[in-house]
Amino acid sequence: MTLEGLNLDLTEEHLAVQQAARDFAQTELLPGVIERDDNEFFPEELVRKMGELGFLGMMVSPEYGGGGMDTVSYVLAMEELSKVDASASVIVSVNNSLVCYGLEHYGSEEQKQKYLMPLATGQMVGAFALSEPEAGSDATSQQTTAEDMGDYYLLNGTKNWITNGGRAGVYLVIAQTHPKLGHKGINCLIVEKGMAGFQIGKKERKLGIRGSDTHSLMFTDVKIPKENRIGADGFGFKFAMSTLNGGRIGIAAQALGIASGAYELAVKYSKERKSFGKPICEHQAIQFKLSDMATSIEAARLLCFKAALDKDNHRDYVKSAAMAKLFCSQVAMDTTIEAVQVHGGYGFVKEFHVERLMRDAKITQIYEGTSEIQKMVIAREILK
Ligand code: CAA
Repeated sequence: MTLEGLNLDLTEEHLAVQQAARDFAQTELLPGVIERDDNEFFPEELVRKMGELGFLGMMVSPEYGGGGMDTVSYVLAMEELSKVDASASVIVSVNNSLVCYGLEHYGSEEQKQKYLMPLATGQMVGAFALSEPEAGSDATSQQTTAEDMGDYYLLNGTKNWITNGGRAGVYLVIAQTHPKLGHKGINCLIVEKGMAGFQIGKKERKLGIRGSDTHSLMFTDVKIPKENRIGADGFGFKFAMSTLNGGRIGIAAQALGIASGAYELAVKYSKERKSFGKPICEHQAIQFKLSDMATSIEAARLLCFKAALDKDNHRDYVKSAAMAKLFCSQVAMDTTIEAVQVHGGYGFVKEFHVERLMRDAKITQIYEGTSEIQKMVIAREILK
């Protein structure tokens, strides 16, 4: 079936990637996921294994150590990993869609040789530092400055809520160089962990994705060589926006995975749990919930694949990515709430996993642009 270029048949390669991600999620991520969430434990060993299996640089060209896969493969893998462990999948998402994509598409050959190879092969993870205490949604209002000092930039400022913040080897940092030029004066600089004046701030204690590592970052007179700027002078905001378009497909897939993970648990539980003399799935009240969940997940999946196919086929994907993220994250929230309800009292305790998925779902409506930002992006696209 095709619909405006939407070919719904998955290839053998797609199915193999999906199966590999499913196997990894079930055998490696599932054991210990509750404890990692409880203890806010970053899964270093699992990240290493995901690197070995190629999940950290899926779409990067093999020339730079990546898997050379398409966005559809990435979405399939993200869904499977996120069904079980959204903390692990956000590490995959940020590394793939923001850091590796940004470097591969806009970095210089030297930057790719130096940074992309180790990121794509999982020798280290990367971070994307755009958000600030006073600049979340309003990303053009960057207070972090990158003063041009001739052959280097002097970086000063604070970044907030940075995924992989304490664990990354490389950070793509957005900063203002020419304040009078507004967003056209912003640059993106590659900052290495350990550079003098670069401090990692406090680790955030979060509602969900508690196994991921979220920190503030502080820069005090950090000297960044000019060759670490990505693209031309003033390209930083465009760089961030273009990279986030693809990032939104990754987060849509994460939300889709959280929703489908919760739905699958709800179906299974409803067949096992009995009330009033029969399995609860035989009660219409439960059937209505399962039907609603299944329908909205299917619609979310279609939007997600539409965005992935737009990107893979070099069509404009700004609108489809924002639509996918907006819709999938709402479905993740609604579905996980209902999955807890289907489980009743058991849904409220950790052993049944759905309460964690419900907490994890919330961030998908916030990071890489809130739902309100996605609506702004969609409106601008349809009205332009
Ligand atoms: N794609 C490409 N370019 C875009 C774009 C997009 N989606 N959105 C805007 N731009 C371009 C515009 O075309 C414009 O360029 P020109 O000047 O050349 O025309 C430029 O960027 C400025 O655009 P606007 O005037 O529209 O800027 P604005 O201030 O009105 O705001 C916004 C635009 C869409 C609200 C933007 O600020 C935005 O997306 N904010 C959300 C930021 C965000 O997603 N943060 C997430 C942090 S990262 C994260 O969460 C990672 C993690 O840890 C998981």
